[in-house]
Amino acid sequence: MFIENIEISGFRNLYKKKVFTFTNSKNIIYGPNGSGKTTVLEAIYLLGFGRSFLNVKKEELLNNSSDEFFINSSIIRSELEFNISAALTKNFSLFLDGEKTGISGIGRNFFPLFFSSSDYVSLISSRSSLRKLFDKFIFGIENIYSGELIEYKKVIRNKTYLLKHNPDRVQLEGWNKLLADYVLKITRMRFDFIRKINNYIQNKYCSGIEIKYTPSSSGFYDSEEFKLEKVLSVLAGILEKEILYKNLAIGVHLDKYEIFLDKRPLRLYSSGEKKLNLLYIYLAYIDMFLSKREEYPVFLIDDYDIAMDKANTEILMSKYPAMQIIATSVRNNKNFDSIIKLIS
Ligand SMILES: Nc1ncnc2c1ncn2[C@@H]1O[C@H](COP(=O)(O)OP(=O)(O)OP(=O)(O)O)[C@@H](O)[C@H]1O
Ligand SMILES: [Mg+2]
Repeated sequence: MFIENIEISGFRNLYKKKVFTFTNSKNIIYGPNGSGKTTVLEAIYLLGFGRSFLNVKKEELLNNSSDEFFINSSIIRSELEFNISAALTKNFSLFLDGEKTGISGIGRNFFPLFFSSSDYVSLISSRSSLRKLFDKFIFGIENIYSGELIEYKKVIRNKTYLLKHNPDRVQLEGWNKLLADYVLKITRMRFDFIRKINNYIQNKYCSGIEIKYTPSSSGFYDSEEFKLEKVLSVLAGILEKEILYKNLAIGVHLDKYEIFLDKRPLRLYSSGEKKLNLLYIYLAYIDMFLSKREEYPVFLIDDYDIAMDKANTEILMSKYPAMQIIATSVRNNKNFDSIIKLIS
């Protein structure tokens, strides 16, 4: 898949309608600070996921002088062209070929993969950010994953409400039955994904990288074998404690991921080493995506040449597959096929 062009108006610094056209291969958007490079990637990302990669409200994405924004794009997939757009007018909506849709409708057709050079350092040391990253990865290759997560969240909301307001044991046991089902499915998918991505990384990019996934309770599994009865019995065993603390003690929203390089946590390495190795994980994911979906996602890399030395930047450039990449930088680089220059 690739994005052929995008038309943006009323969005951040892009007040008047502006069109950007991309090639199917390596694109670079370059320009000075504040010229709108990250904004273009943010608009593309918004089409895929209905939200920004930054922690902002939709209203904050409106240009200061505008009360509406429109983003409109042509996407090509298996030589078919279709249109994805997003608009914030009274409400926010996403459209696929003019029909209103949600992110699961978009995800089948357009999947932007985003690498942020401004927050990868904190991402590597944050449990919840790593969980979100790998959830997004799994969502890209397992259709049902986001549905399972949404249902899981509904169940934990209900269970938490009961724990806080009306800790009725019979009702809580009922929710635990439902919960166990989702915990089992999600944990299995996560284990399976991490096992596979580790193989891809170690065989092709770096033999010393290992992602470790640890579910919130080790009692759920025996040598990576998961059984519903085990999950149910762990949940039953912890219920009294949960009632006492009026909160959930275990669940997939508390699972832990950690990245290791030669057995040391990647968070202890230098910033360039972190970036290089995290990008290897992205590259391995792109291989998995290709093998599962027989197509590439669209890779967005903000400030692609920050933090890494010239040698590592070039190593990475040589490893990117023949897919659409839209990178940004404050510098031009002749290794890209299409160059988009922004002015401040
Ligand atoms: N809601 C908004 N309305 C108007 N301008 C905005 C809004 N939000 C952000 N901006 C401005 O848009 C400009 C573009 O921001 P952006 O982050 O895309 O720049 P950039 O080219 O990525 O810069 P850098 O090289 O520093 O990363 C900035 O000057 C920013 O202050
Ligand atoms: Mg930027």
